Amino acid sequence: MKIFLIGYMGCGKSTKAKQLAHRLNCPVIDLDAEIVSKTGKSIAAYFAEFGESGFRNYESEMLKTFDYPEHCVIATGGGLPCFFDNMDWMNANGETVYLEMEPAALVSRLHNRQKRPLIKDLDDDQLLEFIKVKLQERAPFYSKAKIIVDAFDLDGEKLEQAINKSQE
Ligand code: S3P
Repeated sequence: MKIFLIGYMGCGKSTKAKQLAHRLNCPVIDLDAEIVSKTGKSIAAYFAEFGESGFRNYESEMLKTFDYPEHCVIATGGGLPCFFDNMDWMNANGETVYLEMEPAALVSRLHNRQKRPLIKDLDDDQLLEFIKVKLQERAPFYSKAKIIVDAFDLDGEKLEQAINKSQE
């Protein structure tokens, strides 16, 4: 089974993906990290060189062409489900889990913003507004996930339980 973790920047996709993969004893794939390793550029550098649209094209291609092991947990970039048919593709190719979190909680977890080009120049107040607007735009995509979990206080065990429950 391929398990795609989706959700806004700062909701904990990468950490939870590692925890879940450890529990399930399967590999973890971080698609942003794969982009960095394949291109030799940071996400910020990729945005600066090719713009957001260049990044979205590359991100979608990476999603659909990656050679996934049969069982794995995949952490996706926060915007990935909201472009092209990426969300439908993930639903057709695995389980999708939305790690849902309130905007205020996301702000408090997004201290290191420099590596995140969309929010690098925002202060806390601006970031809160930005996230509220973006989450509304993104909600129709995120809510297509097969499983939705509250990401606040989530750990690998609770995540595994939520996935198991959805399979019953
Ligand atoms: C983005 C989220 C980032 C990264 C890029 C754009 C977004 O991933 O893909 O900076 O549009 O929300 P994380 O969610 O892992 O920070």
